[in-house]
Parts: sequence; structure tokens; C-alpha cells
Amino acid sequence: MQLLITGGAGFIGSNYINWHLGQYPADELVCLDKLTYAANMEALAAVGQLDNFTFIQGDICDEALVQNCFFKRRFDAVLNFAAESHVDTSITSPAIFTKTNVEGTGVLLDACVKFGVQRFHQISTDEVYGDKPLDYDWRGFAEDSALHPSSPYAASKASADLLCLAYVRTYGLNVTISRSSNNYGPWQHTEKLLPKIVVLAEQNKSVPVYGTGLNRRDWLYVLDHCVAVDKIVRDGRPGAVYNVAAGTEMSNLKFMKLVLEALGKDDAFLELVADRAGHDLHYPMDCAKIKNELGWKPQYDFSEYLNKTVAWYKEKLILSRA
Ligand SMILES: NC(=O)c1ccc[n+]([C@@H]2O[C@H](COP(=O)([O-])OP(=O)(O)OC[C@H]3O[C@@H](n4cnc5c(N)ncnc54)[C@H](O)[C@@H]3O)[C@@H](O)[C@H]2O)c1
Repeated sequence: MQLLITGGAGFIGSNYINWHLGQYPADELVCLDKLTYAANMEALAAVGQLDNFTFIQGDICDEALVQNCFFKRRFDAVLNFAAESHVDTSITSPAIFTKTNVEGTGVLLDACVKFGVQRFHQISTDEVYGDKPLDYDWRGFAEDSALHPSSPYAASKASADLLCLAYVRTYGLNVTISRSSNNYGPWQHTEKLLPKIVVLAEQNKSVPVYGTGLNRRDWLYVLDHCVAVDKIVRDGRPGAVYNVAAGTEMSNLKFMKLVLEALGKDDAFLELVADRAGHDLHYPMDCAKIKNELGWKPQYDFSEYLNKTVAWYKEKLILSRA
């Protein structure tokens, strides 16, 4: 198979590329990435020299560049990981989120239609559903639940999902969508919660906790997400959406305490600060569909891989200071 991976120098995309080339060494992967501040080419160092891996620096919103890229190759599938992904930045600077996450997705969809690509997979998020009250304990969001995004980031991702589904109906494009919960693992930018805690606590600085800290999130190890995406791309039904979560939901406060515990630091580093505007409470998701249809289930134990991930960031920090 020849695949185009957009946003492959970011957190999840780089983990996906490394994982995919380990699993399917005969496949050819092309990574298209703008290299924003969130990208890290070091994450692709292990595959950079392989003959079956090509890196192209470029913007998914650049129609000429994207079409040229498709013109030169025959992609069997396109996996769109490229996005502006930080909710806080979407609150202060929303325009780039609409540009990359909606317009950029549209450019890729158009190219897939024009060049007859067999499968377009959109990496989406549980945030498109909006939130539920903390005491809500009925059925979680199903894939056909209404979309009620709260932040400009979530709204841009929901818009992209709707655009993808419209291309299924109008052009018969073979699209699938995965909506995952919070990922953790190596190579995430230090603006995000887990690496941020490590960086601050290792400098003995206080770690900000939004609001009460009682907002809840589900934590999915990044390789569980990679396996889910691969299963969907290979066997998912055209036009289908799949929720992906690990079933490890906990309050942000508890998660932050676990990260500090893994670092050997105590809770005194945590400091309650003003809440994020529009901060979602939690996103309970029903993941029966991917489990029943595709036989996916999370494989990576939360406690073990949280500790491994924290140790990885700690080591990285030590090396960067050396
Ligand atoms: N991180 C999570 O917990 C999480 C959870 C659910 C869904 N997602 C989704 O997964 C995808 C990947 O997230 P991530 O955490 O790896 O993000 P990230 O911010 O770490 O990486 C995004 C990558 O996209 C690239 N990029 C940004 N704009 C681009 C453009 N215009 N053209 C080409 N490349 C561009 C960046 O350079 C970067 O390499 C996103 O679509 C995000 O919405 C992330």
C-alpha cells in the first residue's frame, strides 16, 4: 500500500508512521507536514532514511502543492492527522483552526475525489460531541449522537467531520472517521497536559489546574489509537464513524496526581487557577461499534504506560539539558 500521512511530524502522526512502518515494512509512506511549532522531526528520525518513507514539507491548505503531490503518486489511502490541535490556542487565535482543520481537510478531500483515492481517513476527536454533566452516567455518546462542540478547536473538527460525510454522500468518496479520547505517549508537544506537568514539576514550578480539577478525561495510549486507525482504514465500513476510547476516565486532578506520583513529586506542586473558557466537563463515549465490528480493544495498560511515558519525558528533559 502507498499511504499519504498528513501531520505526520506531530504527536499522533509520528507515532503512527513509526508504528506502521514497523508493522508493514513493505508499505510506502509519504508524510506531508507544514512543520508548525507543534511538529518535531526528531520523532521521525528512526524512519527518515528508509527508502519507503518520503517527507514533504507543505501546507494541506496549499491546493497546488497537494494536487501535485497526488499527481506524482497513486495513494491507496490518505490519513489526515494534520491539524491545529491546542484548545487554549483556539480560544485566543481561532482563525488558523478554521483554515487548517476545515479548509485544509476540504483540499485533501477534493484531491481524493479528483485522483480516485480509495480511502480517506479523518482523525477526529471526542470533543466534537460537546460535554455531559459530571454526574451523567447513562449511555455515552454514540457515533450518531448530535455534534455540540464547545471550543473553536472542537467546532473546526466537527465542521471537518461534516465535510467528510458530505463527500461520502455527494461524491461517493470512501471516507472513515475516528473520534478518539485524549492520547498520551511520547513526542507530544510540551504545551499539552502530560509533558507540561513533567516540565514544570521537574523545575520545581507550580502546575496549574483549571477550575476545580474535577473535569474528567479518558486517556488512550497513542499506540492503541494507531491500531484502531489501521483497523478502520483496512476494514471500516465506507462512510462510518468510530469512537475510540480506553475506558480510563478520571478527573484531571487525579490524572495530574498520578503523573506527579510517577515523577516522585507530591501534590503540593498543583495550583488551582481560573477555569478555561467553555471548559468541557467530560465526554462519555460508547465504543461498542469499533469493538463489535472491528474487534478492536485497548491493549496498553494505563498504569504501566503512564509510568513509561512519564519516564520518557523525564529522560528527554535530562538529555535536552545535557
Ligand atoms: N492529541 C490528542 O489527544 C488528540 C485526541 C483526539 C484527536 N486528536 C486529533 O489527532 C490529530 C493529531 O493530533 P496531535 O495531537 O498529533 O496534533 P499535533 O499538534 O501534535 O500535530 C499536528 C501536526 O500537524 C501539522 N500541521 C498543522 N497544520 C498543518 C497544515 N496546515 N498542513 C500540514 N500540516 C500541518 C503540524 O506541523 C503537526 O506536525 C489532530 O487532528 C487532532 O485533532 C488528537
